[in-house]
Amino acid sequence: MEIKIFENEKEIGEVAGRFYVDFINANPSCVLGLATGATPLPVYGYIAEKYAAGEVSLKDVKTFNLDEYCGIPQDDKNSYFTFMRENLFSKTDVNPANVGFLDGNADPDEESARYAAAIESAGGIDIQLLGIGRNGHIAFNEPGEEFTGEAWKVKLTESTIAANSIYFTDSEMPRYAMTMGIGSIMKAKKIILIATGESKAEAVRAMIEGPVTPHCPASVLQQHPDTVIYLDRAAASLLK
Ligand code: PGA
Repeated sequence: MEIKIFENEKEIGEVAGRFYVDFINANPSCVLGLATGATPLPVYGYIAEKYAAGEVSLKDVKTFNLDEYCGIPQDDKNSYFTFMRENLFSKTDVNPANVGFLDGNADPDEESARYAAAIESAGGIDIQLLGIGRNGHIAFNEPGEEFTGEAWKVKLTESTIAANSIYFTDSEMPRYAMTMGIGSIMKAKKIILIATGESKAEAVRAMIEGPVTPHCPASVLQQHPDTVIYLDRAAASLLK
């Protein structure tokens, strides 16, 4: 794991965003694994800004997102698909035909097989972007007794429901989601994990300095050959 520490999330957005823009320009038909949540927004903002300035095109980029809620339509205002459309896809020239998304309302086993096959036929994920949950989850792989494999249907934990229910102002937050598994995430050629804010400091410490254990799913990244962790000072504050 390579650890990079920055002053604040704006600086991370610029440095990680620059990395993506350069990577896409050098590899115009690359395959990007994308994440939702507050953490990646500065990166998406930077990419959208450079697209608007004519400095990068995403027209041949293929994308696969990590996860999606079950029990709400894909175009629900709180779906992760809508999040991606609002924060990246509609602000760039990503081709809708090149967007891969888990269907939270499909049969979980069939959907898992479909997604794994789609990623494989695209040539695998070149760079997987990740955030981290306060409980050490990556995507929606919550702490448990074993590391998960390919995409699966997860029952969300109270910690995750508490963190994400702020977005569900006029509806009940779903209790289940389809998520890429740890096995699918670990297949990415490169992984970029971003963590910002004090609320992530303990999970960051466990991920980097703790044992590799499914009780902190992100700790598995210690075993990935090319993972870069971008932290702000607050998220890095408990590291030795
Ligand atoms: P956040 O979520 O970016 O909204 O903090 C990250 C995560 O739970 O993986």
